Amino acid sequence: MLETLWLWFCRLFGRLLALLLILAGLAWALGELYYAWKFSGPVSSEEQIPPDEATLTRLIIEDAVRIVEQHRDNTRVLRDAHAKAHGCVKAEVQVLDDLDESLRHGVFSEPGHTWQAWMRLSNGNAYPQFDRARDARGMAIKLLEVPGEKLMKSPAHAGEQDFVMFNHPVFFVRDVAEYRSNFAAQADGKKVLAFLPSWDPRSWEIRHLIIALRTLAPAPESPVATTYNSIAPFKLGPHNIKYRVVPAPQHCPPYQLPEQNSALPNFLRNALYQQLSLDRAPACFELQVQRQNPQYYMPIEDTSVEWDEKIAPFESVARVSVPAQDFDSREQNLFCDNLSFNPWHALPEHRPIGGINRLRQAVYEAVSAYRHQRNAAP
Ligand code: HEM
Repeated sequence: MLETLWLWFCRLFGRLLALLLILAGLAWALGELYYAWKFSGPVSSEEQIPPDEATLTRLIIEDAVRIVEQHRDNTRVLRDAHAKAHGCVKAEVQVLDDLDESLRHGVFSEPGHTWQAWMRLSNGNAYPQFDRARDARGMAIKLLEVPGEKLMKSPAHAGEQDFVMFNHPVFFVRDVAEYRSNFAAQADGKKVLAFLPSWDPRSWEIRHLIIALRTLAPAPESPVATTYNSIAPFKLGPHNIKYRVVPAPQHCPPYQLPEQNSALPNFLRNALYQQLSLDRAPACFELQVQRQNPQYYMPIEDTSVEWDEKIAPFESVARVSVPAQDFDSREQNLFCDNLSFNPWHALPEHRPIGGINRLRQAVYEAVSAYRHQRNAAP
């Protein structure tokens, strides 16, 4: 009797499981079909600015400052995002000798030119945590002594051209309105619920929740062993582009990083230190751009959509090299903490475009000014 009951239960359970799998598969296929239909071109190649963007931006700045204060270290106010650095290192960005004429704009105007730069490598989280925690990883590059008037008039940043990226190709919100509601919910301690704002399924952002979960990825073996993406679009002269920085070990002498102990809280800094300072081995990357083809669904106002590489392949414009160096000193770490990166520290030829970038202009400036003032930093 017991055996029959058990067999019946197993059969029922098996059928339920199969039904669930079929339903999940169907939902997935329907989702794919829906997005293939929704995300079909053409799209605008111009920016479209919603009327309430300025108000939303003000509210987001208030939330950002609230978060910075919430996560305040005992002594210092850290960045509201990418608070923990693995190090700031000196880098060189060399424009390709044979760069295609059509891509020679802004800092890439002169083939062969080498720019000196600072590179800050970071975890994405709003407060420092163990490097093995799932997270996005950031790379910010600041080219120095770049002539020409910049989009932000601050004299302190007059000679700078910044590139600010992290290691996932898409962002977990599409625009400023969604950022505002999601960020406010997260500031109130909501995580998954930030993507399910009401009982109405039409307000659910399941696709964006999946992006957020994928963005929080396991750590790479080293901060110089992953690809960093601009995610948001920019101008490059007349083109609309996205950019990325990909590891290019083929341009460096062969080097194998010894296995690191990823249980150590700062193992990504250790990896960087091992390669650049102990083993004196440089790290090499390529800076690449992807041009928008507005005949296809490559939107400017939706950072949650990846531009299809099959339609718009990335093209290399410069080599980025990080020479062997000593970087982990008290002075340099403090200097690094006090640096400010902003995609709007830029020549007009590299103008940031799209809602998320417009938002970043005001938020980065406000949070940076706030933390510098609270830390009495220069
Ligand atoms: C395209 C999407 C984005 C990327 C690739 C990105 C990447 C980064 C990176 C790498 C940093 C660290 C820069 C450094 O090393 O100092 C950073 C800082 C920061 N990000 Fe973003 N971010 C994005 C979107 C946003 C958005 C939408 C906001 C909020 C509106 C935001 C707010 C901030 C703030 C406040 C900082 C710290 C600024 C400072 O205090 O200097 N980010 N971001």
